[in-house]
Amino acid sequence: MRALFDAFPILRDRVPFVPLADLPTPLTPMECLSAETGAEIWVKRDGLTHPIYGGNKVRKFEFIFGDVLRRGSRVVLTGGGLGSHHTLATAVVARQFGLRTVCGYYCQPLTDEVYHNLRASPPLGIEALFCGDYVGLALSFLWQYMRWTVRSGRPVYFIYPGAPGTLGVLGYVNAAFELKAQWERMSIPEPEATFVAVGSCGTFAGLLLGARLAGWRGRVLGVRVIEEDVANRPKIARMVNRAATYLRRQDPSVPPVRVTAEEVELLDGYLGPGYAHPTPEALRAVEWVARTEGLPLETTYTGKTMAALLDYAADHPGSRLLFVDTYAEAPKLREGDWHQLPRPFWPIFDPSIRARCWCWRSGWNPTFCWRRRLR
Ligand SMILES: Cc1ncc(COP(=O)(O)O)c(C=O)c1O
Repeated sequence: MRALFDAFPILRDRVPFVPLADLPTPLTPMECLSAETGAEIWVKRDGLTHPIYGGNKVRKFEFIFGDVLRRGSRVVLTGGGLGSHHTLATAVVARQFGLRTVCGYYCQPLTDEVYHNLRASPPLGIEALFCGDYVGLALSFLWQYMRWTVRSGRPVYFIYPGAPGTLGVLGYVNAAFELKAQWERMSIPEPEATFVAVGSCGTFAGLLLGARLAGWRGRVLGVRVIEEDVANRPKIARMVNRAATYLRRQDPSVPPVRVTAEEVELLDGYLGPGYAHPTPEALRAVEWVARTEGLPLETTYTGKTMAALLDYAADHPGSRLLFVDTYAEAPKLREGDWHQLPRPFWPIFDPSIRARCWCWRSGWNPTFCWRRRLR
């Protein structure tokens, strides 16, 4: 049923899993973009993992929600930036199982994406909490965890923002096996380099581990789109090694894998001023891909990643490259009325409402504050 389980059948009974995603996602050539760049560019369409809201999270949730169901939790607690795709994807999947989603939000620059994602939250039943910054988020998580454990009478299931835990990483270990099988089926040599966005790191860590286990020959390049304290080489190596140990503990036939921080190929030059700040390179990449392929990207993750790929293509004409599209391609989610969000969110939509900002981060770096409107 999943390429990972085909490779290691014992894992099927040992690893929590619930089928959620439409897999395999298509692997297709980007013919017009290739013609314009002189490289052979392919895209793994992970935007199509789910009919309601696709993207990379759904692969992670196959394993995470397998665990949620096994533990019998009724409330899922998670969080993200104001424009988080992760919180939306969590709510879409949680609703499928009749579970409640509680989400904490921290500041990020306001883009059209943020407005849409926040408006889409009330119809999904998300209980949204504005937390300001990471400190507020951590305190809110503690309080909400206790509150909902008491209210629901069951332990709350906590998903770290972005779902970077070991179970989430397995989603992209599976994707690596899936890709290997697709190249083989098409009798096409594997790409020389694969590009993927790196936020909370789970997607990249999973691809790296899966690439090692499945015996990929090409490079796997992560494009850092968030500050270095969140995404860095030692952390990614630790995540890969932890997931490798976990898999081997479940099934001793899984070969041992150890990755050092030096082996992690993380590209640092595409973040710009900070997380979610649209850079000119990302804007150009989004426009280029929309014009040539009609594929919608955004500027926080996939635009910056595509910008890195386009630079590589310019330096390596004729190379075969793979872009992992992690952005939900499905039709936009239904928007609700922003008045349905709690009051602390209202000044985002109506600047005449006075906003108090208690976020300590904005003190030393105001670019983190949502009041700096970037539209
Ligand atoms: C569209 C998109 N691409 C890529 C990522 C990064 O994935 P990860 O957090 O696993 O590094 C995210 C994370 O939220 C995302 O929303």
